[in-house]
Amino acid sequence: MKKIFSVIATMMVAAGMTAQTHTLDVNTTKVGGPIPSTMYGIFFEDINYAADGGLYGELVKNRSFEFPNNFAGWDISGKVTLKDDGPFNKNPHYVRLAPSGHSDKHTMIENHGFFGMGVKGGEEYRFSVWARVPNGGTAKLWIDLVDNATMGDDQKLGNGSVEVSGAEWKKYTAILKPNRTFAKAHLRVWGDSKVTTDVEHVSLFPVDTYKGHENGMRKDLAESLEQLHPGVFRFPGGCIVEGTDLATRYQWKNSVGPVENRPLNENRWHYTFTHRYFPDYFQSYGLGFFEYFQLSEEIGAEPLPVVSVGLSCEFQNGSNRSDAHVPVDQLQPYIDDVLDLIEFANGDPAKNMWAKLRADMGHPAPFNLKYVGIGNEQWGEIYPENLKPFVEQVRKKYPNIKIVGTSGPDSEGQQFEYLWPEMRKIGADLVDEHFYRNEEWFLGTPEAKKRWGNCGANRYDSYPRKGPKVFAGEYACHGAGKKWNHFNAALMEAAFMTGLERNADVVEMATYAPLFAHVEGWQWRPDAIWYDNLRKFNSCAYYVQQLYSVNKGTNMLTLTMNGKPVAGNPDQDGLFASAVYDKNSNEVIVKVVNTGDQAQEVVLNLKGMKGTHDAQLIVFHSDNLTAENTLEEPGKIIPQTLSLTLETPVPKVTVPARTFHILKIKK
Ligand code: AHR
Repeated sequence: MKKIFSVIATMMVAAGMTAQTHTLDVNTTKVGGPIPSTMYGIFFEDINYAADGGLYGELVKNRSFEFPNNFAGWDISGKVTLKDDGPFNKNPHYVRLAPSGHSDKHTMIENHGFFGMGVKGGEEYRFSVWARVPNGGTAKLWIDLVDNATMGDDQKLGNGSVEVSGAEWKKYTAILKPNRTFAKAHLRVWGDSKVTTDVEHVSLFPVDTYKGHENGMRKDLAESLEQLHPGVFRFPGGCIVEGTDLATRYQWKNSVGPVENRPLNENRWHYTFTHRYFPDYFQSYGLGFFEYFQLSEEIGAEPLPVVSVGLSCEFQNGSNRSDAHVPVDQLQPYIDDVLDLIEFANGDPAKNMWAKLRADMGHPAPFNLKYVGIGNEQWGEIYPENLKPFVEQVRKKYPNIKIVGTSGPDSEGQQFEYLWPEMRKIGADLVDEHFYRNEEWFLGTPEAKKRWGNCGANRYDSYPRKGPKVFAGEYACHGAGKKWNHFNAALMEAAFMTGLERNADVVEMATYAPLFAHVEGWQWRPDAIWYDNLRKFNSCAYYVQQLYSVNKGTNMLTLTMNGKPVAGNPDQDGLFASAVYDKNSNEVIVKVVNTGDQAQEVVLNLKGMKGTHDAQLIVFHSDNLTAENTLEEPGKIIPQTLSLTLETPVPKVTVPARTFHILKIKK
């Protein structure tokens, strides 16, 4: 008690005087409906160098020489030639390293990585290459990790070699151990001075990937995902699902099987914004559907793959371009892709070739896929027309799979109004809604309601309780005035999310977007997790997601102020609140967000609770609304937890201005 009072007193001083006292009534005797375990999840898309150059541990860019400029990302010196009759039919290019004929002239290829390669002193890196000696015999390849930017006497950070033998293509590996940490290393492969050697699929991974997989994920980034405890993991996007044209849509079948033979795909984020143009941004598919499923399992999230509905990006093509959509009578290959995907995830390896491939890749047990999204941000009449046969065939064969349809790119408006009833008619299980909106929208101010209609924390209060559930599949507060991952935007999201929690009977899942961004390679912001080649920071938005996710509880509880939900109504002084019960920990969890610039006094009336209780107060606050975490100061704004003993009835609690509080009380 002493502790809580002193904390409150300090906060009051910091936050100024309070206005009137508000009574929050939580009825703990009447446990409400369940909170879906999928409620708070993650949305992954290869945007902002999220996959290649980000989560995917590969350090070599253009490792198979398949970029349209086959030497993009490489410097070459000496006798290097490009060949195209290699061992992997979907990646036919490789390079021939021939001796120069002079002992002092070397043949060498040097890869720049993604904005350089981040390597850590003393750690192990696995170099691998497919190689052969075309004329037979043996040859030696020397491998160097170099610092050719800030080097002292010696460029070498670490080195190794492989001995290549015979005219057959084989995979060779070597372990490199850099002598110091460097964010911008390059990788050099030196040809044999006497023997011509062919090399293909040149790769370098940290040995210490997440869970130690060879084709694995960058550990610190995957750990950020794990620590979110996401209930659902949506992949692989976003717009890249659709493709700028049908040929460049994401085709999951190309993303499975041996990595050496996964064909390159364009990445639309390489050219979408001319002010952030990245001509060497492609999708290697090294992080493919097997890896997505495996990662979902390892971080404890339900996988939610999203597939093409036979419509390429309508932002880029409009709704009527005939070459941008597949007519219904030609959709079967697209539908088969979904049916085969379900087999790949859940099927019996003895009975199905896609299930067998999963087993061959190291996962004989099913991944227990339960959801599939069909289409991303589609709109117009073609979408429901195309979606219908997908739904019919999936339902017929896999009645337990839940289908997620979309309501277009906006949270309201003509397309949204058109698509929701269409989704009901078609019988989608969930409808994906997207809203990248400003502070006003998240607060649901009268002005915002005038402009956008239904917004803010009471958005879902009025949704019908029957029919499809909501998947808030992409959302983030985009601060007016070009502030990005600052504290205030996260606070707006926290306020809005009280409405998700209160409506957990209609909102089945919600995923903040996008997830990742490389500080040197971003195209879109804000994003949840930022990084360079060695460091990362979790944004304020990340912490809000995490706070909801780890405190989601198991069941809803009713919380009202003066008989009404606390959703920032004009007479509620900027307060937002919700409550849940967690039957596993036997805790009542109350979330209160004060978005106003005045501290608010709150009396918490916990109906059904008496006596003394162990409790925790989690405080997420910054005095500076525009402050944000950075690579240099990753822990600048993070939640603080205090342990308390609490008497019920709970005495007056002061929620400081601009603060997110979570009070967890053992029942
Ligand atoms: O998250 C970035 C993009 O925003 C997604 O690719 C798309 O679905 C939305 O428009």
